[in-house]
Amino acid sequence: MASRYIESLPFVDRLETIPLQGGEIPFELNKLIQFAHDVVLRDHPDEDIRMGHWVPLYGDKPEVTMPLLYHMFQDLVKRPGYQDRVRPRLLECGSGYGMVGRVAALAGFEVFNVEIQKDIHDEAKKYDHLLKLRGMIDESAPHTIFGNYYTPEWFEYAAAHFLQHYNLLGDVVDPRNLAMVSYNLGVSKFTQEAIISALKVLREGTGALAEHSLVTSDGGLDVDVVHIYPSDPMFPHGFLQQMGSILRSGSMLVTYEKNSQIIKAIEEERFFQCGFTPTTWYMSGKELGYDFLGFQR
Ligand SMILES: C[S@@+](CC[C@H](N)C(=O)[O-])C[C@H]1O[C@@H](n2cnc3c(N)ncnc32)[C@H](O)[C@@H]1O
Repeated sequence: MASRYIESLPFVDRLETIPLQGGEIPFELNKLIQFAHDVVLRDHPDEDIRMGHWVPLYGDKPEVTMPLLYHMFQDLVKRPGYQDRVRPRLLECGSGYGMVGRVAALAGFEVFNVEIQKDIHDEAKKYDHLLKLRGMIDESAPHTIFGNYYTPEWFEYAAAHFLQHYNLLGDVVDPRNLAMVSYNLGVSKFTQEAIISALKVLREGTGALAEHSLVTSDGGLDVDVVHIYPSDPMFPHGFLQQMGSILRSGSMLVTYEKNSQIIKAIEEERFFQCGFTPTTWYMSGKELGYDFLGFQR
């Protein structure tokens, strides 16, 4: 059971809720955890501070977080209501180095990892290659896609609302907005120009979902689960509207961070919360909140 495994770890001080029941930790997952330690963490020791809100896989303890993620995805893969296919499909929005998606693939999903920052995408490809060399990757590995998880139409909608919402088009721009938005877009210069050019890069990638046949001829999104980090600055005025419009009934939207405004915004798009229990845990006195929230159409 996941909880027994976690409790046996000496550095876990206190566990508040480890609700997900699972089986043993499979051999492949242990190897992936080792890979996270030996390669990914070594390459990127401070990744959780580079851009807001990464799943705590990198700067923290992958041997704790990856089994929790695995059991969450195992629980999710078995839910009823998905399209009839051998493996349900999971779209990992903003997949970074691809580790979250790799865990989901081990749990049984066909995973589409989508990442827009070229250097990060290239790292994910490098890890695919290394995993392949080590015999740790097979046909069930995630698809690693360079591009945007917004469709062209919804990106225009999202970008317009986003610019307006943060007052980024006027002559006088609040520097706090510039800082926050730059940070969340992964832009190192806190200027209007830098934000506008970041949006251009994002716009160029908007064909990715269609190119990989994830959008059907009627404009629907052909996946069963969408997993998204909640700090996308266009999340409440773009992302949710896109998903509310193109995700079909029975599909799931999964995110983290238990923020009542986020929950309200998701429910306004006609998703209903369907009871993932939070997985908040503590290590060395530090709270690592990773509250999964599952919503169904
Ligand atoms: C906060 S990280 C999350 C990484 C990982 N999914 C996790 O949960 O730990 C967000 C990632 O999304 C990427 N990203 C942001 N906006 C995107 C977009 N519109 N399309 C694709 N990737 C995007 C960023 O480059 C960054 O690597």
